[in-house]
Amino acid sequence: MSPGAAPATPRQRKSQLGQFMTPPSVAEFMASLFSLPDGAAIRILDAGAGQGALTASFIERTNSRHRMRATAFEFDEQILAELRTNLADIRTRTCAECELVEGDFIEHAVNRICLGKGERYTHAILNPPYKKIGSDSRHRGLLRAVGLETVNLYTGFVGLALELLERGGELVAIIPRSFCNGPYYQPFRRFVLRRAAIRHIHLFDARNKAFKEDGVLQENIIIKMVRGGEQGAVTVSTSTDGRFADYEAIQRDFARIVFPGDPDQFIHIPTGDDDQILERASFGHSLADLGLTVSTGPVVDFRLRDDLRADPERGTVPLLYPGHFSTGGLQWPKQGFKKPNAIRETPATRTWLYPNGFYAVVRRFSSKEERRRIVANVIDPARLPSGMIGIENHLNVFHAKRQPIPEVLAHGLACYLNATAVDTYFRRFNGHTQVNATDLRAMRYPSREALIALGQWAKDHAVIAQDEIDARVHSL
Ligand SMILES: C[S@@+](CC[C@H](N)C(=O)[O-])C[C@H]1O[C@@H](n2cnc3c(N)ncnc32)[C@H](O)[C@@H]1O
Repeated sequence: MSPGAAPATPRQRKSQLGQFMTPPSVAEFMASLFSLPDGAAIRILDAGAGQGALTASFIERTNSRHRMRATAFEFDEQILAELRTNLADIRTRTCAECELVEGDFIEHAVNRICLGKGERYTHAILNPPYKKIGSDSRHRGLLRAVGLETVNLYTGFVGLALELLERGGELVAIIPRSFCNGPYYQPFRRFVLRRAAIRHIHLFDARNKAFKEDGVLQENIIIKMVRGGEQGAVTVSTSTDGRFADYEAIQRDFARIVFPGDPDQFIHIPTGDDDQILERASFGHSLADLGLTVSTGPVVDFRLRDDLRADPERGTVPLLYPGHFSTGGLQWPKQGFKKPNAIRETPATRTWLYPNGFYAVVRRFSSKEERRRIVANVIDPARLPSGMIGIENHLNVFHAKRQPIPEVLAHGLACYLNATAVDTYFRRFNGHTQVNATDLRAMRYPSREALIALGQWAKDHAVIAQDEIDARVHSL
């Protein structure tokens, strides 16, 4: 803490340490996912044990036929006293041995792995801390030493716990879904999928419900993996919240979880009610097949503040924000708009501008309440009196090497992206409300001809009802 700074509130402190405790019903569910062969000696790891809720639930599930040894790692002084008491209580109530390692799990685990010494576990149960780790931090360096390149403590904990399991050992963790997609977690996905088989994924399909008290904004999943296991079908289950009252489970082929040949190894979570049309071969085209690229809007407004203008004036060109698009299409300039309508065209800003023309754009951010995460629109050059235009960073733009695309293709693409089936497919691998260019690159598309045919139909309608879009896309 810097001199004079106010001490962190309990909530801030919790967030700094990534401390969100598992509710008892969720802990019980997690413990129920393990297989416990009769008579086997069990060595369970609880990394980032907090008050010991997960160890307690696990031991509750075992019985006297199991020889049990639990190892809990925790480093927070303020929580250790309670953890010591809880572990002592478990020891007296059961015949389990409980060991507490007071220190940094990452450091201990990396040392153990590098030296090839120390205990290997039969089971690991974790709710690891969620905290970004900087590229030059000590934790990042330690994780790198065992071949794990990752950006968050939670993936570091899961990777190390897997590494500390014996062959056939099982891991159950409650973690955010963010590792399922995106480039930053790709090395982690590779690390995990090389070492383990995924057996079960549970999805909470309402944000915050699993940790209502703590208001965690991440969408969480529970994942079960088996070290060195043979990958077969995966159980995908859902419930609205930690009460599991509406629990449903379904078996999915692994090829529908991680697509064969996907270099990014995105992890999809296909639940029972999703639309499978995008899995048809006719939707198997990449953007490269279509001759298109998608990029984040290049104008980062705060970097070009001096060049922004509230209203168009001589020497400026239109600057487009998500707010310029509505169901009625592109509206520019917007009177009383909170954002600038224009950007100066200068030799310096020109590198960030695109030639005016047709493009499809997708908002990068939506709110949880919005029905669809993917919201696409068309830039219609006739509404923009200019040779060049600025596309702001909160939009993704589909282009052809920074040049406009044909009008019908722009309409076809926007119409396709607005289909419910596309949105559902997207939600399977992306749990956030953010839609990044990498996600759009990873989508499946129909052929260019099919998009053009769709665009021919769509371009003559100012507003199209959702079920009409869905019916058209289904018939492609
Ligand atoms: C998300 S909480 C979960 C606590 C508990 N497992 C549960 O499920 O209720 C993560 C815990 O990891 C601890 N932690 C964070 N970084 C750690 C580290 N590097 N080594 C050991 N424990 C750590 C935090 O203090 C916190 O108690």
